[in-house]
Amino acid sequence: MRRSVRSLTNKIVVITGAASGIGQSLARAMAARGAVLALVDIDELALEALCAELADAGNTVSSYVIDVSNRSAMEQLPGDVVTAHGAVDILINNAGVSVGAMFDDHSIEDAEWLLDINLKGVIYGCKFFLPHLKQSPEANIVNISSMFGLFSMPGQAMYSASKAGVRGFTEALWTELSNTSVRVMTVHPGTIRSNVIRSSRMLDPQAQLKAVQLQEKFGMSTDKAAEKIVRAIEKNKLRVLVGADAHIAEFLKRLFPVSLQRLVGMFFD
Ligand SMILES: NC(=O)c1ccc[n+]([C@@H]2O[C@H](COP(=O)([O-])OP(=O)(O)OC[C@H]3O[C@@H](n4cnc5c(N)ncnc54)[C@H](O)[C@@H]3O)[C@@H](O)[C@H]2O)c1
Repeated sequence: MRRSVRSLTNKIVVITGAASGIGQSLARAMAARGAVLALVDIDELALEALCAELADAGNTVSSYVIDVSNRSAMEQLPGDVVTAHGAVDILINNAGVSVGAMFDDHSIEDAEWLLDINLKGVIYGCKFFLPHLKQSPEANIVNISSMFGLFSMPGQAMYSASKAGVRGFTEALWTELSNTSVRVMTVHPGTIRSNVIRSSRMLDPQAQLKAVQLQEKFGMSTDKAAEKIVRAIEKNKLRVLVGADAHIAEFLKRLFPVSLQRLVGMFFD
């Protein structure tokens, strides 16, 4: 049986972390389908440049310079979006950061910074938008995890913890909201060519440069990743893996839950 594809035209879509990378490509992909956009980021200049581009192309767009880890700002955001656009249909919790260093070496402040953005930011988004999303006849929450939400990476302990946290949280929401109009989806991207490693808090600049080079060489483009995510929203999927590496990671983790961790550990000996 063919799944029906839902229209995103005129749907009011909130995207956090919209000023760069996957979020920026998601905004463009949604705009191309005629969605109304409410875009959120801490990078004011980049956010305004994107909004100007989309508005010039005839799209309806509003912008919010907000840190997703700021509880009171996130609490106020849904009301502002509803005032601007009248409703909210889709929330994409995409904003994220990384810390690249062994857990023992980086500070507890870096650990808290990352968890506050990657996990608490997602929780705030869901908590404060949910009452508004429930008013929509067809709503979606889309939470961006990672392939590191499926298995854990040495040198990325806090990132892996945050993304596994997003997975666990989102999977509980699927079930809790299954009798409502709100569909919930978790996204597990593999390597995508974005700015996430460049803006990462890494202790070793050489390791950071190498990681950026690997990402540039092997990563999927953000446009392609966004297209896969938007198509999954159109099909009301519950879960999507983006990229061959994410599929391989899941396959290996299911078959070899312990050996896979040993294998990735060998690269760090
Ligand atoms: N790029 C990858 O390989 C990859 C893989 C798996 C998952 N992800 C996830 O995809 C999401 C998007 O990341 P990306 O790769 O496009 O990175 P990116 O760095 O290109 O974009 C992240 C955006 O989030 C914004 N942001 C950061 N902290 C914020 C905060 N506190 N409040 C609001 N906005 C904030 C940044 O300004 C930036 O515009 C993240 O959750 C990331 O963890 C990325």
